[in-house]
Amino acid sequence: MADRRARLVLPRRLLTVMRLITDPVFRSAKLYSWVGRDGMFQPFNHTKADRYPRIFDQLCLMLGGKQDLRLLSFGCSTGEEVFSLARRLPNARIRGIDANPANIARARRAGAADPRLSFVVADSADGEPAEHYDAILCMAVFRDSRLNCGPESCARFLKFTDFETAVTGLARILKPGGLIAMRHSNFRFLDTAAGADFATVLNVPYPFEPSPIYGPDNRLLPGLIDADCVFRKRLAASQSDRADLAERPQLP
Ligand SMILES: C[S@@+](CC[C@H](N)C(=O)[O-])C[C@H]1O[C@@H](n2cnc3c(N)ncnc32)[C@H](O)[C@@H]1O
Repeated sequence: MADRRARLVLPRRLLTVMRLITDPVFRSAKLYSWVGRDGMFQPFNHTKADRYPRIFDQLCLMLGGKQDLRLLSFGCSTGEEVFSLARRLPNARIRGIDANPANIARARRAGAADPRLSFVVADSADGEPAEHYDAILCMAVFRDSRLNCGPESCARFLKFTDFETAVTGLARILKPGGLIAMRHSNFRFLDTAAGADFATVLNVPYPFEPSPIYGPDNRLLPGLIDADCVFRKRLAASQSDRADLAERPQLP
């Protein structure tokens, strides 16, 4: 077994070198993972079309047939999440934000023919208007794959305070009653102060062992699994008023 693994190391390294030379998007993500960048969470840009079909379907159901929907994919990578949502929601305008300009350049090329879509290079919600979006997705953004082995502290790669700042910004640009979808995060949304204005409306169990979870002190919460993935912002300002919160939908 060890022999087989050793035999695979060289071809894998060669493949990585080839991609570094030929693929500018792969190269930029690798560079960010090596040198770091202020304001960036997961530097790796792995994504694919329809990556979260169950969550996308439920989210669209919860948004209903409303006209003039506005969605934001925060950390959209090369845009596949935006294109998957656009196919499901023909009436929606969807914006993709990503901190890596190479990702956005590729997303813009792929989405150029669809006037409902826009892509912006940014590492926060600061440039977006208040209470503007019906739904915001931040999937596989507030994490770092280098934490997959579950070290005691996440602080070398991610800090809870940065997560808190980012989600406070996202909560600001979401309409009252709007939805935030979050998956594969190393932190829990409801541990943040902004989370107090939200209630969980969807929980989808993971089919495999999920990312480790860290608390507000950046320490590992051993064995904890957080499968809550869609949260609704309260209509009322009062945090104790739960009357406006939707029931959890039944999963098929
Ligand atoms: C693993 S990809 C996730 C792509 C897609 N959301 C998905 O789940 O398939 C993570 C993306 O988040 C982006 N990212 C990381 N930190 C960010 C930040 N502060 N603001 C915007 N994008 C960020 C990265 O550039 C990367 O493209």
